[in-house]
Amino acid sequence: MVSTAEPVLEARGLVKHYPLTRGIVLRKQIGAVKAVDGVDFSLGRGETLGIVGESGCGKSTVARLLCHLERPTEGEIRFRGEDITGASGRRLKEVRRNIQMVFQDPYTSLNPRMTVGDIVGEPYEIHPEAAPKGERRRKVQELLEVVGLDPEFLNRYPHQFSGGQRQRIGIARALALRPEVIVADEPVSALDVSVQAQVINLLDRLQAEFGLSYVFIAHDLSIVRHISDRVAVMYLGRIVETGTDAEIYEHPTHPYTQALLSAVPVPDPEARAHRDRIILSGDVPSPTAIPSGCRFRTRCWKAEERCAREVPELAVPEEFRAVGGPVAHPSACLFAAERQVVPGAMEDHGGHGNGPG
Ligand SMILES: Nc1ncnc2c1ncn2[C@@H]1O[C@H](COP(=O)(O)OP(=O)(O)O)[C@@H](O)[C@H]1O
Ligand code: SF4
Ligand SMILES: [Mg+2]
Repeated sequence: MVSTAEPVLEARGLVKHYPLTRGIVLRKQIGAVKAVDGVDFSLGRGETLGIVGESGCGKSTVARLLCHLERPTEGEIRFRGEDITGASGRRLKEVRRNIQMVFQDPYTSLNPRMTVGDIVGEPYEIHPEAAPKGERRRKVQELLEVVGLDPEFLNRYPHQFSGGQRQRIGIARALALRPEVIVADEPVSALDVSVQAQVINLLDRLQAEFGLSYVFIAHDLSIVRHISDRVAVMYLGRIVETGTDAEIYEHPTHPYTQALLSAVPVPDPEARAHRDRIILSGDVPSPTAIPSGCRFRTRCWKAEERCAREVPELAVPEEFRAVGGPVAHPSACLFAAERQVVPGAMEDHGGHGNGPG
């Protein structure tokens, strides 16, 4: 997980609004689902960026935009410094080859009627130049081996595998074209806790082996800590706080990050007893009706009148800029303040077993 200054993938002002329509014959647009509403980040080569937020905050939409499975409403996606937002034809094919996705659900993302060999080798149908026909079988077997599966499983079907093994198949497929970036959309959320660490360890090993850069999406801060160099916390279509993992876990300054951290499971009973439990009031507002000013204000215990009028920018807060250190990282809060939620509890607890899941 060595990051260099050179960004491999960047998002600039990324927006995805889905039109909300009424009427069957005369379809009239009555609003928009603001799934992604202005997202900026940069992913360094060999780096892992963890994106975390509750269900519905726009994580999967960001993933689909990055992989060019959908087009943004506004904004720019850059790959190796080049704007690829409107890529088409051969350029689009090349971009898609280089930015691969691992899907959340290993039960629905693999075609049940295809053999594992055909699933993992499918990218070669679209990119025949990546593997001549005569070499495909061997390449697929190599990929299975790389992800810790028996290369002789080639002719089996997805239902003959466990959830963890299926996710390994999905990872093998994502690796087939030797991409530079993998966008993993909650790759372990559908798996048993005992298997999650194995799949994360596999991704970790593959990153070192193939020099991959990852966008790793999760709904829980505890899952991304082990694998991320940097973390971005999303709320209602925007990043509200971002920083290195030490900055986010030990020096969170945005109330939403603090609330998420306080909900993370704490294995150590001593630390659990001293944890600062923050219960958020209310539900996440609908992305069709985003609150004015700070979008988190309807659930924020610190909200003041100013929060309804001013949109907080994602920037290093003025008062921390002078201080420097780990507290000086971007936070979109008008009243950003440090609050250590669980002292020492976010240390790595190990227990990441190996072997196929
Ligand atoms: N194709 C679509 N049309 C309309 N709304 C959508 C579409 N895809 C996602 N949404 C909405 O956008 C919001 C963000 O969804 P999503 O990106 O899947 O969030 P997450 O992955 O964080 O759970 C949700 O409110 C979802 O219902
Ligand atoms: S800007 Fe106001 S409402 Fe938003 S997070 Fe900060 S204190 Fe809370
Ligand atoms: Mg999702």
